[in-house]
Amino acid sequence: MKNNILIVFGTRPEAIKMAPLVNALKKEALFNVKVCVTAQHREMLDQVLDFFSIIPDYDLNIMKANQTLHSLTAAVIEGLKPILDDFSPQYVFVHGDTTTTMAASLAGFYSGAEVCHVEAGLRTFNKYSPFPEEINRKITGVIANYHFAPTQIAQQNLLSEGVKAEDIIVTGNTVIDSLLESMLKVNSAYSNEEIEELKGTLSFEKDIVLVTGHRRENHGDGFLNICKALEMISKLDNVEIVYPVHLNPNVKDVVFEKLSNNENIKLIKPLSYPTFLWLMNKSKIILTDSGGIQEEAPSLGKPVLVMRDTTERPEAVSAGTVLLVGTETNKIFEESKRLLQDKKSYEEMSMLHNPYGDGHAVKRIVEFVLNRASKNSNG
Ligand code: UD1
Ligand code: UDP
Repeated sequence: MKNNILIVFGTRPEAIKMAPLVNALKKEALFNVKVCVTAQHREMLDQVLDFFSIIPDYDLNIMKANQTLHSLTAAVIEGLKPILDDFSPQYVFVHGDTTTTMAASLAGFYSGAEVCHVEAGLRTFNKYSPFPEEINRKITGVIANYHFAPTQIAQQNLLSEGVKAEDIIVTGNTVIDSLLESMLKVNSAYSNEEIEELKGTLSFEKDIVLVTGHRRENHGDGFLNICKALEMISKLDNVEIVYPVHLNPNVKDVVFEKLSNNENIKLIKPLSYPTFLWLMNKSKIILTDSGGIQEEAPSLGKPVLVMRDTTERPEAVSAGTVLLVGTETNKIFEESKRLLQDKKSYEEMSMLHNPYGDGHAVKRIVEFVLNRASKNSNG
């Protein structure tokens, strides 16, 4: 008999990192796979579903303007109940640390499914940073039956918390599987409407500083400081800042109010994943508070300044390709200036090296689940 697998995700990064796993699990004869999107994000999720040609079997469509963590959590659990009743999955797959992840793992557990956690074990050990992601990921780790840890540090974190060694496997991060697969398409000849528009509006003869940001703990003062730093960076010689602005109103409203009249700062809509990869490749440096971008950029040899005080991804910091700069205006400005103007500092941070994966994470996850599923069916 086939094992039913329900894969649940809801935001842009979860979709990017789960897409290759969806496609790989669907190829296995032993599994009957369905995808449920919570649509915690709407437009930014749909951009990814389009690119990877994923048509969800279920769509909870829960996103509300300026939603709260409380309403999101309730909507995911309530929305999943009838699907779990109807489909009775043996396995529920979740990814990472969002509210969708935490609430879907709880809903899966309530319904008797075995919870499989992809990108398990990352920790800052500070429950307020990233907020609420550190706690979302920890709760998911407590609930999960199987833990797919991207790195040995993540594996060690789980072992220290008492997770059994046989329930953890170090896989690498599926973000690298997605990146490598997508970069085969996004080669130098690749184009689409967004890229053609960017070619018309950006000055590629200048150094492109690519910026993204959205973390809840940076809302308010953090973003005001970041905007001030970007204004200062925009006055440096030969620099153009490009900032695809996250749709969260707590980010979008501030950023547009503070930065829209600066001709060296191009504020644009969130880009589709292939266009974003294309633009990362064209950039000189990246300023971000994103988790996924910290993992992708070392594969493209792009130095990253992380505008956060903590990171649950210490591997690239140790390797020297990522630097934590926090959200203090002068620190962001000085470190950006140093990288843009000092060739030696730039070269030290721009080596091609990726501690997060080799592009075979999905294969390892599928093999692990096939193994468990066949053990279970043999009693
Ligand atoms: C969420 C995740 C965060 C993840 C990030 C990736 C939680 C609590 N937060 O943060 O972990 O790193 O996504 O981007 O799980 N919005 C739109 N359209 C979209 C997406 C968002 O309009 O496609 C707006 C809506 O007003 C929405 C708001 O953004 O209410 C916030 O979305 P939400 O998912 O709650 O928080 P993010 O900051 O996106
Ligand atoms: N990304 C994208 N378009 C953009 C900005 C980012 O496709 O305009 C991709 C990026 O390549 C990475 C992911 O989105 O894979 C990161 O998502 P986000 O920063 O929203 O979330 P986080 O990684 O912090 O959870």
